[in-house]
Amino acid sequence: MVSVKLTILGGGGFRVPLVYKALLADESPERVTELRLYDTDSQRLAAITAVLEELAAGAEESPSLTSTTDLGEALAGTDFVFSAIRVGGTQGRALDEQISLSHDVIGQETVGAGGISYALRGIPAVLRIIEGIKQHAPEAYVINFTNPAGVITEVMQRELGPRVIGICDSPVGMARRIMDVLKGAGLVPADVPSLSAGSDRIRLKYAGLNHLGWLTGLLVDGEDVLPRLLERADLIETFEEGRLFGAPLIQALRAVPNEYLHYYYFSREDLAIDKVSDKTRGRFLAEQQKGFYEKTDDGLSPYQRWERTRREREETYMATNREAAGNFERDDADMETGGYDKVALAIMHAIANDVPAELILNVANNGILADLDDTAVVEIPCRVDGSGVTPIEGAELPDHGRGIVINAKYVERRTMEAALTGSRQAALLAIGHHPLVDSFHVAEELLDDLVAAFPEELAYLT
Ligand code: G6P
Ligand code: MN
Repeated sequence: MVSVKLTILGGGGFRVPLVYKALLADESPERVTELRLYDTDSQRLAAITAVLEELAAGAEESPSLTSTTDLGEALAGTDFVFSAIRVGGTQGRALDEQISLSHDVIGQETVGAGGISYALRGIPAVLRIIEGIKQHAPEAYVINFTNPAGVITEVMQRELGPRVIGICDSPVGMARRIMDVLKGAGLVPADVPSLSAGSDRIRLKYAGLNHLGWLTGLLVDGEDVLPRLLERADLIETFEEGRLFGAPLIQALRAVPNEYLHYYYFSREDLAIDKVSDKTRGRFLAEQQKGFYEKTDDGLSPYQRWERTRREREETYMATNREAAGNFERDDADMETGGYDKVALAIMHAIANDVPAELILNVANNGILADLDDTAVVEIPCRVDGSGVTPIEGAELPDHGRGIVINAKYVERRTMEAALTGSRQAALLAIGHHPLVDSFHVAEELLDDLVAAFPEELAYLT
């Protein structure tokens, strides 16, 4: 076995132990042997390191572990970079949500004005990371988790090219849930392997942008089994997306929307519930995480404390959308699987061991979706192997999704322009053209409030 080095940027992040658990479970020949955590906050690094050390103590074999606040040291000669940073922290997320809601528009981490604000804060830091990678790890693959993942991946790809891959767990999570329903109902053979394990018997037809895509087909042994689900309203309303959107919409669309599309198809209902809920998601997480990162006298070990916090976080994921859709609880299976750690490991595994895998990833369009230009980063099925990532021909946007996707890409591009050139006007065009911001006057007020709330991070907008 050769040495394989992985650097996690945002190494003090709460979900890092999920990645570490996946690393410990990896028995492939080219598994990660050296893990480096980088973060700007040493207190967060220390808290996460304690969780990882506890996990390593119970494992037979574990990668060596270092943590640092020096970017160059973290990157020097590394093979894989996971980037999962959050400029402004969960407090920043809470502010994005709160400011949006104060103007009667959806307040969300990646969608709408909140997502634009998050990108405007993140891109300058991402540019510094890009320089660091160019200098210290010019050959490394970069797996981007940083949200909003589509726009951040596109910024990174412009400078670093196709070795930057954007990931999200929502599409594969949806496909797994649907497959489980079909299997449970005896509508696909029981011996079809689980989706998270990857299989050449299963092909997904999925297209869109990050947090804005649709599953339009699910091929098992060459046959599309999604119509079997679409015929059965009773089955549709047994899994997360089916309950969120309801059978009538899914049957009319002949596609299953990504869960984040709830903010578009049910904006009025989501906004109404968010307006009356006592805390935004960001505020809840900021308080919860403070408890995890700062509290050490509760008699729990670091891992126990982390696991308890994680469980509570998963239970409340997308709670307001579920409330708007009739208040249902999440399935146990959805709370156990991390998801994004598995996608990340699957990419590394396929590249390092040269074992092909098909995954839904954020990559440059290069002619796949007819409505978008070649450099547009899109979320589509790709083949990953030792030679890198190749989009699979044939992905297609459903007709009902074309307008919204073209518009969302325009918004992303204006967001990038604002961050890359410092243009306040471009930022205004981005916010004002977002379909969830219903007035240009409101867009102007939102931008003023965001710049006031993040005086340091957004001072560059002139
Ligand atoms: C899903 C999305 C991620 C997002 C996360 C938010 O996993 O795919 O992009 O960051 O949910 O979850 P949270 O617990 O932070 O609300
Ligand atoms: Mn995501």
